[in-house]
Amino acid sequence: MKPVYFDNAATSWPKPPEMMEAMVRFNESIGANPGRSGHRLSIEAARVVYEARECAARIIGSPDPLSISFAKNATEAINCVLLGLLKAGDHVVTSGMEHNSVMRPLRFLERQGVGLSIAPCSPAGVLDPDDAMRAVKGNTKVIVVTHASNVTGTLLPLDDLARIARERGIVFVVDASQTAGSIPLDVVRTGIDVLCFTGHKSLLGPQGTGGFYIRKGLEESVSPLMRGGTGSASEFEEQPDFLPDRFESGTPNAIGLAGLAAGIRFVLGLGVEAIREKEAHLTRLFLEGMAGMPGTRLYGPQNVRQRTAVVSFNIVGMSPSEVAFELDEQFAVLSRPGLHCAPAAHRTIGTFPEGTVRFSFGYSTTEDEVRRGIEAVAHISAAYHKRTL
Ligand code: ALA
Repeated sequence: MKPVYFDNAATSWPKPPEMMEAMVRFNESIGANPGRSGHRLSIEAARVVYEARECAARIIGSPDPLSISFAKNATEAINCVLLGLLKAGDHVVTSGMEHNSVMRPLRFLERQGVGLSIAPCSPAGVLDPDDAMRAVKGNTKVIVVTHASNVTGTLLPLDDLARIARERGIVFVVDASQTAGSIPLDVVRTGIDVLCFTGHKSLLGPQGTGGFYIRKGLEESVSPLMRGGTGSASEFEEQPDFLPDRFESGTPNAIGLAGLAAGIRFVLGLGVEAIREKEAHLTRLFLEGMAGMPGTRLYGPQNVRQRTAVVSFNIVGMSPSEVAFELDEQFAVLSRPGLHCAPAAHRTIGTFPEGTVRFSFGYSTTEDEVRRGIEAVAHISAAYHKRTL
């Protein structure tokens, strides 16, 4: 049986062949260390990395590719920004729908004396901007939120949060792990100061790629997470202060960035808006197919405009891992059960500590696959409830 891959929120698959072709091309005919040695292959490698920067800048609406700093994933990017910005005595606001990539650095900072307020969200994961505003204090330095929950797909109100931050001189940081490449983004128009992204989800790049956009000038307030060789200003033993070298020490994942550039080019070719529409359609199909299904419970907003193509559900009485096992074993439907590294989000929607079963669709998911998923859930639920009657 051909597997149905519903785990695109963990990492997208399949990737477009262009991604791997670009990595093979890099390996076979470039291979050198970018910007280090000055010979033709080193210059060519640097050009590939710059192209990846241009692609990343374009897809999130950054006018300047140098505002993009690469990291190995969104988690590293978020750590760099939060640990680099916040000091004891500062205050930070986040939401009740965060992934541990935001929550763990914040809990660590809390122990160092940074005040933390968590704006509550509704059981569907919706954040009312007024609740975020109420959480703001005189010493709030940062508002940091995920753009979309990796558990329910719920979109957070970036425009309102950006306004709240801008009016109070607060730095607005967004974790776009679940949206870069699948929801149109414009950091300048929205007023986002820092946007962290991963390369291996909807940007269709390889694992081990990611980074962040930072508004020009703000980098001076962010202490780098790491310091080291950059291939620039080698005469100085101090870290360069200019972008992106301030945040990019050591040999980068150039081969991965070659793949990331190809992945983003592929996404730009399809069009982020078109991907969004297709995924919204698939999500609607799933929600309609699941609506009223006996013995099941769905989470997150019903309106597909308020969410991404990530859906969470449970079969009442069965553990999420049992359901995921049966889905895989009997139907080759691949999902992610449990807490999805987001205990706060599960507390908010009332599914802590068991969690949920999560399906996450991608650009290549078909209607037939979604129908197969619905039928598989219906079959497992019916069999379980017949057994337990
Ligand atoms: N954060 C990723 C997920 O939600 C890995 O599965």
